[in-house]
Amino acid sequence: MAKLGVNVDHVAAVRQARLGKEPDPVVAAILAEIGGADGIVVHLREDRRHIQERDLRLLREIVKGHLNLEMAAEESVVNIALDVKPDTVTLVPERRNELTTEGGLNVAANLDTLEPVVHALHDVGIIVSFFVDPEPAQIKAAARLLADRVEIHTGHYADTEDQATALHSIQAAATLAERLNLGVSAGHGLNYRNVGPIVRIREITELNIGHSIIAHALFVGIEQAVRQMRVLTR
Ligand code: PXP
Repeated sequence: MAKLGVNVDHVAAVRQARLGKEPDPVVAAILAEIGGADGIVVHLREDRRHIQERDLRLLREIVKGHLNLEMAAEESVVNIALDVKPDTVTLVPERRNELTTEGGLNVAANLDTLEPVVHALHDVGIIVSFFVDPEPAQIKAAARLLADRVEIHTGHYADTEDQATALHSIQAAATLAERLNLGVSAGHGLNYRNVGPIVRIREITELNIGHSIIAHALFVGIEQAVRQMRVLTR
């Protein structure tokens, strides 16, 4: 059974559309936990397009399960992470003009810049995960930097017509990661229809899902939307 981390960025995106106070992603997080989420995920982007520092600090206070902060390996946000101390930091690539995180982090090409970030986060007891495409070189690079986990990018699996080939790459990456003593998560583009085959990959112990749950929550409420995903991820 995989743990479920619910990403509440999209609740903050609706709030930021009016630069107001509601809906509050902190309330969404409370309801997601009541609905059975094992953890809450937020991405503090450099452009602050959805989650704000205030959200992160409040979430640190109220989340009962696991708090996972997605972020770029940029000094200003690393300093915030060192201060707030989420349970996990997931390092992701970030491009200003992208609609959402478009690909995995190129860990293999950035070993020198990422190494001190991993050390700094480890020094204050934060679990470090790298969001990577299902490529052996990236998994090996994550292990080389002594990351604790990798999160395998499932965006291609979610988009392609050739799911079988995509699943094969994800399975191979998960097998390699486990062999290298990395915990394995997966996320991006997962929804109520496509999550099943990912849940059946034994090595994947955590799924991080945002858009599909928050979209469904518009119609059934967050607790119910999380509960329905929980049934599928058991
Ligand atoms: N995992 C990571 C690293 C992400 O960047 C995102 C998107 O913020 C997700 C999971 C969730 O993706 P989605 O919103 O498509 O479920």
